[in-house]
Amino acid sequence: AAEPDLTGRHVVVSAGGTREPLDPVRFLGNRSSGKQGYALARTAAARGARVTLIAANTGMPDPAGVDVVQVGTAVQLREAVLKAAPDADAVVMAAAVADFRPAAYASGKIKKKDGQEPDPIVLVRNPDILAEISADRARAGQVVVGFAAETDDVLANGRTKLRRKGCDLLVVNEVGERKTFGAEENEAVVLGADGSETTVPYGPKEALAETVWDLVVRRLG
Ligand code: C5P
Repeated sequence: AAEPDLTGRHVVVSAGGTREPLDPVRFLGNRSSGKQGYALARTAAARGARVTLIAANTGMPDPAGVDVVQVGTAVQLREAVLKAAPDADAVVMAAAVADFRPAAYASGKIKKKDGQEPDPIVLVRNPDILAEISADRARAGQVVVGFAAETDDVLANGRTKLRRKGCDLLVVNEVGERKTFGAEENEAVVLGADGSETTVPYGPKEALAETVWDLVVRRLG
């Protein structure tokens, strides 16, 4: 059985990928399955935590013993995180949040017009939830963890991102056509704001989740 080292703690985990609607039937999305976030939620519950899982478009059943909040867009995900954060000992942002959303939403399905070029899709920036909660720290000593999917210069980009976001830990994944998204296994390096670097070898997403909680527990003291 797992060590109950998160007993009495409340942790918030975001999972999945946001969908940013263009019209009632179309959206801009990403390939995140939510499996890593669900593994984080399950393992935290097994270690005794009260878990709030904020799930974006994962299509997976709710894990047992976890409070699940379903969201669709980045703006909805932000609202759910900000609502849960004041009471949280740790916030882990495993969700793939769209950096941009369409500037306009068409309330009717967008139609193709004969002999006319399509309208360009104009994007606006979404709020950066991880940077916001890292800067605000709704509770003293709260540990904030981010994820970063990088395709190249993984460690250098990860260090820069950790500083820019202001979180305590950043889990850096190398992604590519066949890596990470939808897979059962993952490999990563967890960078700490204290300069630490923890390599997690290729293995089940649960193993990476357990390492993240080990590092969080150490920081909670
Ligand atoms: O900047 P980038 O999207 O690579 O950062 C990834 C990390 O930031 C993830 O932890 C993700 O959940 C979070 N993020 C966020 N709000 C955004 C974009 C990303 O919280 N708008």
